[in-house]
Amino acid sequence: MCGIVGAVQKNTKAMPVLLSGLRALEYRGYDSAGVAVIENGKIECVKSVGKVAELEKKLKKRELNGAVGIAHTRWATHGVPSEANAHPHLSHNNEVAVVHNGIIENHEKLRTRLESEGYKFVSDTDTEVIAHLVHHYLNLSKQKDLFEAVEKAVHELKGAYAIAVISGSAPDRIVAARFGSPLVVGFGNEKMFVASDVSALIDETNQFTYLEDGDVAEIFADSCVIRNASGKRVDRPMITSEISAADMSLHGFQHYMQKEMYDQPQAIKSTIEQAMKKGEIDVRAFGAKALSVFRKISSIQIIACGTSYHAGLAARYWIEPLADLPCNVDVASEYRYREPRFRKGTLYVFISQSGETADTLACLNMVKRESPNSHTLAICNVPESSLTRGTDLAFLTRAGKEIGVASTKAFTTQLVAFLLLTVVLGRIRRTLPKEIDKKIMKGLLTLPEKVEEALELDSTLHRLAPKFTEKEHCLFLGRGIEYPIALEGALKLKEISYIHAEGYQAGELKHGPLALVDENMPVIAVAPNDALAGKLQSNLKEVRARNGKLFIFASPETKIVKDEGTEVILIPEVDELLAPIVAVVPLQLFAYHVAVQRGKDVDKPRNLAKSVTVE
Ligand code: M6R
Repeated sequence: MCGIVGAVQKNTKAMPVLLSGLRALEYRGYDSAGVAVIENGKIECVKSVGKVAELEKKLKKRELNGAVGIAHTRWATHGVPSEANAHPHLSHNNEVAVVHNGIIENHEKLRTRLESEGYKFVSDTDTEVIAHLVHHYLNLSKQKDLFEAVEKAVHELKGAYAIAVISGSAPDRIVAARFGSPLVVGFGNEKMFVASDVSALIDETNQFTYLEDGDVAEIFADSCVIRNASGKRVDRPMITSEISAADMSLHGFQHYMQKEMYDQPQAIKSTIEQAMKKGEIDVRAFGAKALSVFRKISSIQIIACGTSYHAGLAARYWIEPLADLPCNVDVASEYRYREPRFRKGTLYVFISQSGETADTLACLNMVKRESPNSHTLAICNVPESSLTRGTDLAFLTRAGKEIGVASTKAFTTQLVAFLLLTVVLGRIRRTLPKEIDKKIMKGLLTLPEKVEEALELDSTLHRLAPKFTEKEHCLFLGRGIEYPIALEGALKLKEISYIHAEGYQAGELKHGPLALVDENMPVIAVAPNDALAGKLQSNLKEVRARNGKLFIFASPETKIVKDEGTEVILIPEVDELLAPIVAVVPLQLFAYHVAVQRGKDVDKPRNLAKSVTVE
């Protein structure tokens, strides 16, 4: 949700760093972009609608040479994508420039007040109030102290923000602040940076400091001073990032989503391996205190959004029977407002690829506030994210950097994390039957190979895709643990191909959605050979009886037979406990090929962004 990058250098142009940072951050939003630098004590700004490439075209015609600058790629919240609404936002006489990620909830009130003081607004954004507020305080300050002006301005803001501010009156620095949206300071040699995440700066440094909520930082080319919400000078820990330039490369693939689907065998292998010690699952992979926490819990509450929520839904089918624990799963944006009751002994599990999803983080903060003695666990793919830093326990999936907006390898590694959690809990609680324990452990060993086999369906799905490119609607069906997989298949298809797709429990078909079925409504069923396969087949007959076209992703053992209205895509045979992790792979490939053949930008689907850091 909007990407911020800033550079403070001495005598060298900031623009190359700003542009490469923006390209790396484009996954966060890509409807407009802009840069502002300080040149000869004045702010110069260039903005454009569309992707970063459009901005680069403009910058070829108008070179900006400043050594200090800020840049932004936007995901519109307030106001349509337009040049006026693109960041940086400028104050009166271009004295101050601001880039912002987040949402200022009291912007209307502030706008009315600033307008009454004579400030003229040129955009529909909430961000513009920050530029004018900083300008207001800067002009009240005798020394024109930018740090003080930003500090005073952010005290007036309600909502979430990560901001970077420059001013011609303080041409050697950036002042940055965060509350609720991530911001990291990067340390280079005689150059310093600020960005929404480390990936923007991997070519420049691997040394970073994360700002905490309420921090304001004054960043010079060779130093950085951070003050916390109470104005006290603080030292935040320095971390060395493991992300490398290779993580950001396409490695010959056409799209990041395609590469990331193919990363899955290795990502799954790494996730399993890092949780093992001497051939056994090490409970400490969930955190140093995991064993004592897991011994105490009596229920589980899973909270997440989107694809991560689907992983949580699938997990319930493992956790309840095998760890004998009641398990609830909620969408974070609902959970935070539905006034839930907090029960003693509940383990709250927050799943997020990015660890920066605003609703998921808000739920974590709510649980910590309302039920301070509760135990919290993050399942996350980003080690230094706000989520992993906020929970008592954390399990890190080893998917590696996921750039495509459509989550693929993050999902399959989240499922692996939940399966490992189930085994750990089942063993501690002595509820996991020995033979099932053995089956899972054996299955985990061969899982990367099975996923590899599933990827071999690539060409089959490439050939199947044309049957869908002209379709406008599609139903996905599954039963039991394959129901969340059907939901995930539908989400993948709709988000990147823009075909309206819905996932349903197959048993619900006759309670409503069957009315939609006719020869124009393709129905996709996920049918690995599990205990419910027989029941699913009866549901599918209901579809055929209405002339619905069926596409069944089934394992050979189901012995589902093709007929003129039923196409069967054979997926690898695998134990039913691990089947969802394999079954989702062909659905990802299928969505990918349909989207590519419909000419869509699979890595940057319209209206979406990778990291949803606003509510
Ligand atoms: O980073 P998170 O896992 O918290 O993100 C949650 C959702 O925004 C995300 O899974 C989204 O649904 C994916 N783009 C779907 O592919």
